[in-house]
Amino acid sequence: MVDSKVFTSVDSLRDEILSRGTGQKVGFVPTMGALHHGHMSLVRKAYEYAEIVVVSIFVNPTQFNNSKDLEKYPRTLKADIDLLSNEGDVIVFAPSIEEMYPPNYKEIELNLGDLATVMEGKFRNGHFNGVVNVVNRLFEIVQPNFAFFGLKDFQQLSIIQFMTKELKLPLEIIGCEIIREESGLASSSRNARLSEKEKDEAVILSTALRVAKELATVFPPIKVKEIIFGIIRRSSLELEYFEIVDPITLLSISEWAPGSQACIAAYCGEVRLIDNMQLTSAK
Ligand code: PAF
Repeated sequence: MVDSKVFTSVDSLRDEILSRGTGQKVGFVPTMGALHHGHMSLVRKAYEYAEIVVVSIFVNPTQFNNSKDLEKYPRTLKADIDLLSNEGDVIVFAPSIEEMYPPNYKEIELNLGDLATVMEGKFRNGHFNGVVNVVNRLFEIVQPNFAFFGLKDFQQLSIIQFMTKELKLPLEIIGCEIIREESGLASSSRNARLSEKEKDEAVILSTALRVAKELATVFPPIKVKEIIFGIIRRSSLELEYFEIVDPITLLSISEWAPGSQACIAAYCGEVRLIDNMQLTSAK
């Protein structure tokens, strides 16, 4: 076990990365902390691609549209650093808000089109504008060759891929599989806010997605949606959306296509959870 080095300023982080030698590939895992198995799998994946791995821990206020959600977001820096220390010589970047957004900071302007207005975008106004800006700022600071994002945030991953292409950023985005608890519940920092009872109840999200995948072989998308709405309505969760979408445009589909994707968001008590699953094979 190597103690992870923690840097809070951009300059000290840059110095550390440069001190590791030239010609080394940099893998980057951006996070908001409260690290779990899912994040650790991203770190391991990063080591498959790069010699230097940087993990940022920054709860980005500009991507929260609900101040209570921001306030309640779990912050566990010490435990996060301990977890990362098990994974190798990880460089941790844990900046303050002032370091990330200095007075001369300027937002990028990027038209995300429908990618940012459907699903999460519909229910979390301004969320993706906050995400693309913080991720772009982190990319500028870390200058990675590869950046790793979990597929659990399917829409976020699509948007980051779009941003990277549009801005012609010199790095590769790697989407990594969803890590699930034994129960099927997708690993998420927000799970830390669920009671044991709620954790059991939240399993209905992944169950519903699995049912949708089975039904996809028999029924059209509209019928599958109707059945899934019924399943969630009968549970203790409050559904925000369940959509079956094209994996590229993220627009709702009425006929099955390669890689059709189901995405769901619901409240379990006070905690908002999301999950998704590919329902039809990609080709
Ligand atoms: O997925 C997250 O944890 C965040 O949206 C990210 C990518 C770290 C940006 O703040």
